[in-house]
Order: sequence, then C-alpha cells, then structure tokens
Amino acid sequence: MSLAIPTRQDLEYTPEVERRTRALRERLEGIIPEVEWPIHAPYIARIEELKRTRNAVILAHNYQTPEIFHGVADIRGDSLGLAQEGARTDAEVIVLCGVHFMAETAKILSPEKTVLIPDLKAGCSLADAITGEDVRRLKARHPGVPVVTYVNTSAEVKAESDICCTSSNAVQVVESLGVDRVIFTPDQYLGKYVATQTDVEIILWEGACEVHERFTADEIRGFRSATPDLVVIAHPECPPEVLDEADYVGSTAGMINFVQERQPPKVAMITECSMSDNVAAENPAVEFIRPCNLCPHMKQITLPKILHSLETMNYPVEVAPETAARARVAVQRMLDVGRGSGG
Ligand code: 13P
Ligand code: SF4
Repeated sequence: MSLAIPTRQDLEYTPEVERRTRALRERLEGIIPEVEWPIHAPYIARIEELKRTRNAVILAHNYQTPEIFHGVADIRGDSLGLAQEGARTDAEVIVLCGVHFMAETAKILSPEKTVLIPDLKAGCSLADAITGEDVRRLKARHPGVPVVTYVNTSAEVKAESDICCTSSNAVQVVESLGVDRVIFTPDQYLGKYVATQTDVEIILWEGACEVHERFTADEIRGFRSATPDLVVIAHPECPPEVLDEADYVGSTAGMINFVQERQPPKVAMITECSMSDNVAAENPAVEFIRPCNLCPHMKQITLPKILHSLETMNYPVEVAPETAARARVAVQRMLDVGRGSGG
C-alpha cells in the first residue's frame, strides 16, 4: 500500500532528512521495509515542520499504518482515548488520522478548534448502518428505554441517543444507567458481547463492522492448530463464535495493554491488519501471527494526504451547532462514566 505513494518533486531524501529521521528508521526496522524509508522520510520531516507552524496536533487511531502511527502521530489510541485526548489538547488544529466519525467526535468536543481529516472518504460501515431517523423509530417502538450508541456513528445519530460508548467502556456505560433494558446501536456483535457481560437486557440493531465480521471461528482454530501455545486476542466487533475462541476480548487499546503487560510469546490479534505491525514495533519479544483484514476506510489516510491537509487546511470537519450540542451531551455522559475495565 505504501508503495503507491506518489513522489513529489519538492520532497527529497536529502542527507539532512536522513539524519533527522534516522532514530525513527532504526526503531521501525523490520516493521517498515528499508526500501520504503526514502519514500516516507521526506513526508515525515515536512509534516513535523508544518505541525509546529500550524500549532497542530496529529491524533492517530491504532489502525493507522506504522509510518503514520509511529512516524507523525502525537497522540495514538482507541476511539475513547482519541476522544479524551482531543478534548484536552491545547493545539489550535487537530488532524484526525482515523475515520470520519472520530473527527466528528473531536469537533463535537472541541467546537472552537479546527478539526481536519486528510480524506473525507474515510467512512465506516457501522456509521453507515444507522440514521437519526432509525433511532427515532427505535425510541418510538420502545418508549422510555435509553439508547446507548457506539461512537462509530454520525453526529446526527449521537444527537438522538442518551449516551455513547466505545468498545472500551460499553459494559460500564450500559450498567451505569441503572435500568433493566437498553437499546444498543448500531453494532450487533458488540451488543451481543455486552449482553454476555451484564444482566441488562440488550435490544440490538443489526449493524456490523465490515472488517471484524469477516473473521471466522474456523480461521482461529486453524491458527491454533498451526501454532501451539498461541494466545488469541479479539476485538468485540467480531461475531460471538469468534469471541468464544479467544483468550481475551477487548478494544484496540485493551489489546495493546494485554500484549504490553503479559508479553505472550506468540499472539494473534483478531482485528484490523495494522494493529499487529504497530504493536510489534514496541514488543520485540512477542511473535505475531498476522491475520489480515484491512479497513479500507482507515487506509484512505496516507502521509501525502496528511501533508496536503496541513498545507491546505483541508478537509475541515463541521457539525451543525444544534446537532453538535445534542451529540455533545451523549458523548460527555460517556466520558463522565470513564474508561471501563473490560478493555
Ligand atoms: P476501538 O479502537 O475503540 O477499539 O475501535 C475499533 C474500531 O473499529 C474503530 O473503528
Ligand atoms: Fe468502521 Fe470497522 Fe473500519 Fe473500524 S474497522 S472504521 S468499525 S469499518
């Protein structure tokens, strides 16, 4: 993928660029092929300069490619971590390297800041699975039942919801409401996973992540029989029969913490491709079996597009003030509940 980067005449791999990026290249040895470094390094050096000029901060989701994740990101994390850190930063400009709903969440929490996404096509199959009108219908069908909405949704859907959650805190958020039943949108698999962890009845919506729904239990059993002593850790957006095969289930940040703390000799991360590459860079003693389901939306973000974004201040993410105000209530309620222990 990275080799598809178009070259730019004004960006050269000069001795100065080599010197400025050498420590990073050495740290990413084995993660980024040596032959690619002269392509990435001039972008990394130029992006670093522009970040200072623009008073900008780069937030990158754990699924971003290593040259972004390790190369230019100031803050990295799962959806919850990015929402929290985006709200805290003093920078005037946030460049969100992730998908559109993450940029919208940053804008909802920091309306005074300029929030940029390097490519507007970075969407999400979960966010596309439900509309504000769908939520209004659900509420009419189940009057008085609170709506818990995964952050992987549009601002309009958040605005119709009582509280948001992420995969890190979904169980904690559901239980925080002190009710017997909740409507849970839009990820049916995360909802089913939450139902296994709580006595609260979960009314599901039928959305799914196009990346995680493709994993199968057979695939996991195949990894295990090929690799004795393999530790399998999976994201809760996977179907239940996949999660049944896992030793640990958690958000992307939960999975990273698991590997960092336990240092399993061999691990398979059942989630998006780039996670293993990013985590491998910081855990040289762990061997990664790398199943690869790629998120085509996350992969819209590239170093040339980040540079273009900082040069031209594109593409600003805007949310209508009335929608943002209502969505902010749901997101803020989630942040007030705090990060859960489940991932
Ligand atoms: P988390 O990073 O919050 O676990 O979310 C995973 C995901 O698919 C985000 O799009
Ligand atoms: Fe959406 Fe799935 Fe991609 Fe995450 S991995 S952005 S949930 S499609």
